[in-house]
Amino acid sequence: MSFPVTRPRRLRATPVLRKMVRETTLAPGDFIYPMFIVHGQRIRREIKSMPGICQLSVDQAVLEAQEAAELGIPAITLFGIPAVKDSVGSENFSDEGIVQQALRAIKKALPELITIADLCMCEYTDHGHCGIVEGDEILNDATLEILGKAAVSYARAGADVIAPSGMMDGMVSAIRPALDAEGFVNVSILSYAIKYASAFYGPFREAAEGTPQFGDRKTHQMDPANAREALRELALDLEEGADMVMVKPALPYLDIIRRVRDACHLPVAAYNVSGEYAMIKAAAANGWLDERAVVLELLTGIKRAGADMILTYHAKDATRWLRGSD
Ligand code: PBG
Repeated sequence: MSFPVTRPRRLRATPVLRKMVRETTLAPGDFIYPMFIVHGQRIRREIKSMPGICQLSVDQAVLEAQEAAELGIPAITLFGIPAVKDSVGSENFSDEGIVQQALRAIKKALPELITIADLCMCEYTDHGHCGIVEGDEILNDATLEILGKAAVSYARAGADVIAPSGMMDGMVSAIRPALDAEGFVNVSILSYAIKYASAFYGPFREAAEGTPQFGDRKTHQMDPANAREALRELALDLEEGADMVMVKPALPYLDIIRRVRDACHLPVAAYNVSGEYAMIKAAAANGWLDERAVVLELLTGIKRAGADMILTYHAKDATRWLRGSD
């Protein structure tokens, strides 16, 4: 049956009708809000390439988390900028580390908000790499030990979820037993299972002060050209015991989000990363794009591709727009 009997425009005639047949809906409950935590008091230092996003001291992070929670955002994810960087990233596994302090303060103020601790070494090391470095090599297995120690420290500080983001082989199978041995059997693991070596992380590296001092991340992060390999990474993380998996970045990898969604039964997160955010903010500031419309469209696209959860710097704005309160 085709035209003139069939007319798809019939179902697009009014806003109510369009809403009734809508296949994908976006809601505040889909978002995870990333935050950058620094030492000090009363600090809100805006990141130049990420307008609207600040490095926050713990007191300010509590206020920001409160605002997110009140808007209906269920979870935040924390990145730390340490006081001192060294070759093994000591502050990462110190109970007095900046993220540990923030976790305790946020959990105390907002016990129901889900706290996710990003787990990587690059923000904490003086060389800016995601692992222990020997010569110009990033050592895999030596790094795993440190990740296990840091995961336990985050769990002790109150993290509900540990999110290893360093793309070391075996990271989930190192963290799970480390957590379990300390009694944290109910702390879950959101693995950055499929993370590409992307140029879209540029602004984040300014925000988290974790630019590698030499070389790049191509020996551990994935080649943007590969899709089958994503399924291999996924299979390994499933076997190792990940509770949730992430694809990152989001927009150039919507096909990967779809494949991952179809290939497993775990919740799938997608990370709408700093460079994706920066592009929108820059175009909007120039009056070249309608920020509200494009943000809701791109977040809908990420969800339609198969993401159950979206880590996004737009989370607070998008929530206000969705609730029609702005
Ligand atoms: C740390 C980490 C990075 C991001 C999240 N965790 C940077 C990187 O791998 O270089 C990027 C997030 C973003 O760009 O918003 N490994």
